[in-house]
Amino acid sequence: MPKVTLEPAGADKRATVENLFQLYVHDFTDFWTERRVELGEDGRFPPYPPLAAYWSEPGAEPMLIRADGQVAGFVLIDRHSHSGLPTDFNMGEFFVARHYRREGVGRDAALEAIQVRPGQWELAVARRNTGAQAFWRRIAAAVAPEVEEIDRDDAVWNGLILRFVVA
Ligand SMILES: CC(C)(COP(=O)(O)OP(=O)(O)OC[C@H]1O[C@@H](n2cnc3c(N)ncnc32)[C@H](O)[C@@H]1OP(=O)(O)O)[C@@H](O)C(=O)NCCC(=O)NCCS
Repeated sequence: MPKVTLEPAGADKRATVENLFQLYVHDFTDFWTERRVELGEDGRFPPYPPLAAYWSEPGAEPMLIRADGQVAGFVLIDRHSHSGLPTDFNMGEFFVARHYRREGVGRDAALEAIQVRPGQWELAVARRNTGAQAFWRRIAAAVAPEVEEIDRDDAVWNGLILRFVVA
């Protein structure tokens, strides 16, 4: 199994995260119920405006996932809440590149990110992203004795919200 490390993605690594984000959006096209954005003439998805906040907003923490030192994904933590309830940490976006999947890279990265940040956690998973729902239920159960599940279906969010406290 690859050795997983997290590395803060400062301004010098912003372009790396933005490039990986293209792959992430491509994955998410599987979960859309309708075509949401079109590729540009350059063959890229258009910039996702909220991504910029990870390099400007207080409490936002962008990180690269490395597997055996290689770029393997990203972890983007912020303070937002899809439930509207008080939240210390939100797993805003999380991605493991396909060639590293189902090897425990996501699990190690998630545990490393979550366990060192005690407080109220929240994460929201799109309704059709059933793989990530299974993944996050396992992670949440590993880090907290109780996990609250909220099913939301409105203009704010459509899918599962998990909330748990890390001691
Ligand atoms: C979801 C994601 C992060 C999982 O990363 P990963 O490195 O493959 O996950 P792991 O190998 O650590 O999986 C740990 C466990 O989670 C569960 N799991 C992970 N992916 C799963 C899937 N696609 N379907 C069902 N269960 C899954 C399994 O129980 C797995 O253990 P196992 O492989 O021994 O069965 C990755 O598939 C991904 O980046 N997907 C696209 C982006 C995305 O959906 N991000 C999450 C947004 S909320």
